[in-house]
Amino acid sequence: MPDTASSSDIIRFDRVATQFGGEVVYADLSFAVKAGEFLCLLGPSGCGKSTALRLMGDLLPVNGGAVYVAGGSPRENWNQLAYVFQSPRLVPWRTALGNVALAMELRRRDLTRADRAARARELLDLVGLARDADKYPRMLSGGERQRVAIARALAVEPRIVLMDEPFSALDPTTRARLREELLAVWRKTGKTIVFVTHDVDEALTLADRIILLSAKPTRVLETLALAQQRPRDLAGDAALRECRWRLLSLFARSGPDEVKEERHP
Ligand SMILES: Nc1ncnc2c1ncn2[C@@H]1O[C@H](COP(=O)(O)OP(=O)(O)O)[C@@H](O)[C@H]1O
Ligand SMILES: [Mg+2]
Repeated sequence: MPDTASSSDIIRFDRVATQFGGEVVYADLSFAVKAGEFLCLLGPSGCGKSTALRLMGDLLPVNGGAVYVAGGSPRENWNQLAYVFQSPRLVPWRTALGNVALAMELRRRDLTRADRAARARELLDLVGLARDADKYPRMLSGGERQRVAIARALAVEPRIVLMDEPFSALDPTTRARLREELLAVWRKTGKTIVFVTHDVDEALTLADRIILLSAKPTRVLETLALAQQRPRDLAGDAALRECRWRLLSLFARSGPDEVKEERHP
């Protein structure tokens, strides 16, 4: 165990090695996620952010080291996790309610059909879709579909929600609104959130802690804890401006990949 290990860690990467063919993604990657925190994994595209989530969810085995989830292996505890991907991946022939209930049909067989529907309604209400429960995905906007995906993730009562660039396909206004809503959902539910992004400002807006990854072979370049109240003023708050500058300069040196900046009004 690394000396940074603590009992409040709900996920831990302990000297993890991953390669595809001869290509090393990580040789020796260690970090931890604390229970209940909103953690952003920030890094250039191709550095292995999605791979890290797949390792957590037992969708990929490690080539070296170990991943721990909720005190056990990913294999033992995959059911403590739920995913939200960049595209919502909804079933087109089911309504919003039907999509959320479907997740429960697979993992919550203890509930009756009526209980599942009632619970799905509560979750749609939580993500601001109380009046859209009976709409099919094609009748919903991109932002609304992604809200359904968040409700579906919560439906299996996970302790941890893994989010892989979930807002990157949305327009800037919708993206900003969904970030606010996600923070509200996080506060209400107390889930641990691991949120992957390559957008410095998104990480600064959301995270309790940011882990900045380098380009391959990937290592942790920086860990930043952010205590600022939300909603955050990235342009006005001097400490946040300092963090932003630091992340952008580290990011720029981390490899040839793009640095994504959003303009502030
Ligand atoms: N199944 C796979 N087979 C081969 N290479 C892969 C596979 N999955 C990911 N990779 C490679 O591993 C690296 C990390 O990928 P990924 O985790 O998707 O990066 P990120 O999410 O940070 O953009 C990339 O170079 C990618 O091409
Ligand atoms: Mg990815």
